[in-house]
Parts: sequence; structure tokens; C-alpha cells
Amino acid sequence: MDDIIITGGKPLAGEAVISGAKNAALPILAATLLTGGRFQFDNVPMLRDITSIQNLLGLMGADIQREGHTMFVDTGNLCQYEAPYEEVRKMRASILVLGPLLARMKRARVSLPGGCAIGARPIDLHLKGMAALGADITLEHGYVEASAERLKGAEIYFDIPTVTGTENIMMAAALAEGVTILRNAAREPEITALADILNRMGADIEGAGTPMITIHGVRELKPVSAPIIPDRIEAGTFMVAAALTHGDIHITRCEPSHLKSLMHKLEQAGAKIDVSGTSVRVRGGETILSQDVKTMPYPGFPTDMQAQFMVLMSVARGFSVISESIFENRFIHVSELKRMGADINISGSHAMIKGVPSLSGAPVMASDLRASACLVLAGLAAGGVTRISRIYHLDRGYESLEKKFAALGADIARVRAQNP
Ligand code: EPZ
Repeated sequence: MDDIIITGGKPLAGEAVISGAKNAALPILAATLLTGGRFQFDNVPMLRDITSIQNLLGLMGADIQREGHTMFVDTGNLCQYEAPYEEVRKMRASILVLGPLLARMKRARVSLPGGCAIGARPIDLHLKGMAALGADITLEHGYVEASAERLKGAEIYFDIPTVTGTENIMMAAALAEGVTILRNAAREPEITALADILNRMGADIEGAGTPMITIHGVRELKPVSAPIIPDRIEAGTFMVAAALTHGDIHITRCEPSHLKSLMHKLEQAGAKIDVSGTSVRVRGGETILSQDVKTMPYPGFPTDMQAQFMVLMSVARGFSVISESIFENRFIHVSELKRMGADINISGSHAMIKGVPSLSGAPVMASDLRASACLVLAGLAAGGVTRISRIYHLDRGYESLEKKFAALGADIARVRAQNP
């Protein structure tokens, strides 16, 4: 186990190169189960969550090789249709194998993922969608047991625009008989990326990125080679870092169009943002201006940027309110920020923030992936030394984050854990 130690207060400047998107790679790797053959994916990030799904696919019989950021996946010899608790408990997105297994193997036995730090994270909408496609679904001993001779197209309305729910049903419907229409579908760029790859595999999907997705089922699919899109949340994290440290960061190999809501808020908060192709230059303003934010499904302000933006607001001039509308427990980072001097009060799903002149370094503990990114940002802005423990949370979704910040002039290092 490692800690991260930061001596903050330095403006960050230079280039940050963005890695491939965790939340695009996970469903795309699950989609390899839909057909046999050899896939090649480039720009695959080196993350703990990617290793988790690699292990899970390997258990099912997939042959996976990595050469740096390129991954080769051969799913020609699948030997089982079970996703065991031991693997699923490490990463709840493992539920994404349910749809592909059901479509390809006609059966699936997937451990219920259970909740996590930020919320209960139910999968009822995934299961309702599979049942609508004609699958027999039973829950027993903590597992979802699903079976279907051949899935049949249906019209499915999501009560909530669920990201992985939309992805799971879209993958299952790709091989179903007939047409499936998803209404109130999630619109995240990772869904569009998945649909693009499914269509290159021979699927017939229209409307990804809009609230209505139409999937014309086909008989079979074929493997493809494709790159993984850039990680918009990693890019957003560096954008906040530039504003927070009054720095000047060139964020390259990103997709600015995926970050419009965040960039708008950062400009309102005083940052200067220049977009040029796949690069964004962010310069911090003299003063950070407080802004209210409400997290919403894409294209609204992303919940995965809520904790990071809260650090910026904690040292802004004035009051701001951050409302978390997606998850019921996504303010765990607040208590650690308060230990660093932030003035934040929570009332239900709202965090009331009174900007303070600066934060002060302290020993803190990460609790989940985006909370750990928030604590890194807080340490970069704070005066003095911050030591962050349990950074295995960070390694789930950020590739070499401390090295990327060090390259921008930060005094940051990964060290052996003080209290393993
Ligand atoms: C995806 O999670 C992302 N993970 C999350 O990123 C992200 O925060 C979330 O979407 C929202 O944008 C991946 O893509 C792997 P949801 P997901 O289903 O799909 C409720 C990160 O930090 N819901 O869109 O699990 C749910 O409780 C992670 O990278 C149901 O009620 O989220 C939540 O309140 C964290 N029933 C809301 O919908 C269901 O069956 C949105 O959840 C499914 C979801």
C-alpha cells in the first residue's frame, strides 16, 4: 500500500497528456464477449479497474495480452458464463458482462455488485431491461441467474438514465431478434463510443448519445481494432488543477466537446480557457469566483467532477452551493476537506461552501476514486504538507497521476504507506 505526499502552494504549468477513458474501456472490453476472435484496443489506460476486468474476462476463457497501452483480447474459447463474487466485489462495473454473456452464451451468472462508498448502486434497471428482452432472471445466493434461448427486441423505458444500464442493454440487444428501443437512455460520450465500436463489429445501432437509442438485432458480430476515447474526467481534473493553483496547463489528447459544462463553470469561476482541436489550455484567474453547481446526467455537470470542483469552491471568493443529484452519499470527501480548513456544511444533497483564503496541509484518507482525486487537488493548493493514505482508490481510475502532476512542477511523491 502507498501514500502520496504533497507540499502544496505551487502554480502548476506545462503539458498534461490525457490517458484513455476508464469508463469507455470497461464496457468495450465487456463487449468482446459478444463474439469470438481477436480484438485490438489502443490507448487502454493502465488502471486497477482495467486489471480487474482483464482478470474477470480471463476467468471466462478470454486470452488477454497487454503491450503498453495496447491490449489484445481473444474471446474465441469462452469456457464459463459466471462472474464470481471475488471479482465483482472489487469492481461493480463487472455487471457489464451480464448482457454480453446472456446474448452470446444464452446464460449468465453474475454476482450482485452490492453498494459502494458513494451509494447503494442498485442494478434493478439492468435486470428490468434484460427481462424485457425475454430473459429469465432469478436472484439467489447473491447472484443474478439469467437465461434466454434468444433475446427478443423490446421497447424499454429507463426510469433513470443509467450509464452502465444503457450500455448493458445495448450490448444484449445487439444480438437480439428484432428491434429494441431504449427510451430515457443515458447520453454519456462513453455510450456513444461503445455504440461506435459495436457498429464496427457489425451491430446496427442508431441514436447513441441521444435519449432514444434504436438497436436492430443481428445474428452475429465480428472482432475489431479500435482506440479508446480520452478520459474526460481525468482531463477535467487537470482543468480544475490549473484554476486552483493559478497555473497554466496545456491538456492534450483530450476531447474538449465532452467537457462543455465543466469548462463553462470554470470560466464563470474566472479561469481562462482556450480550445484548439484535441488540446485545451487552462489558465487560472487572479481570483477564483464562487459558482453554484448541480450534478446532472450528461451533458449536465458530471457527478464524477463534483468532488474536484468542490476543492476549487472551497478557496473561492464568496459562497457556493454544490448539489449532488446522482448519488446519495457522494460527500464523503467533505470531512477531509474540512480537516484542511475548508468551510463546508452539508444539508441533505447540498453542500454549502464558504470560500476561505487557503487550505492547510494535513494527513487525510481517501475513501473512493474521485474523493482521492479531490484530496490530491486540495494538497496541491494547500500551504504545507498533505499526506494521503489509501490511494489504491486513486489507482482505480487515474494512470500515474502523481507523475503527471510532478511534470507540471508539483512537489508530489508516492511513498510507502505510513500505516499499512
Ligand atoms: C457510471 O456508473 C460510471 N461508472 C460512474 O463513474 C458515474 O459516476 C455514473 O455512471 C454516473 O455518471 C462507469 O461508467 C463504469 P448510473 P453507473 O447507473 O452506471 C441509479 C467513476 O468515478 N440506478 O448512471 O453505475 C444509481 O443508483 C464512476 O468513474 C438505479 O437506481 O451509474 C444512481 O443514482 C463512479 N438503478 C443513478 O441511477 C439501476 O439499475 C445513476 O447511476 C442503475 C442505476
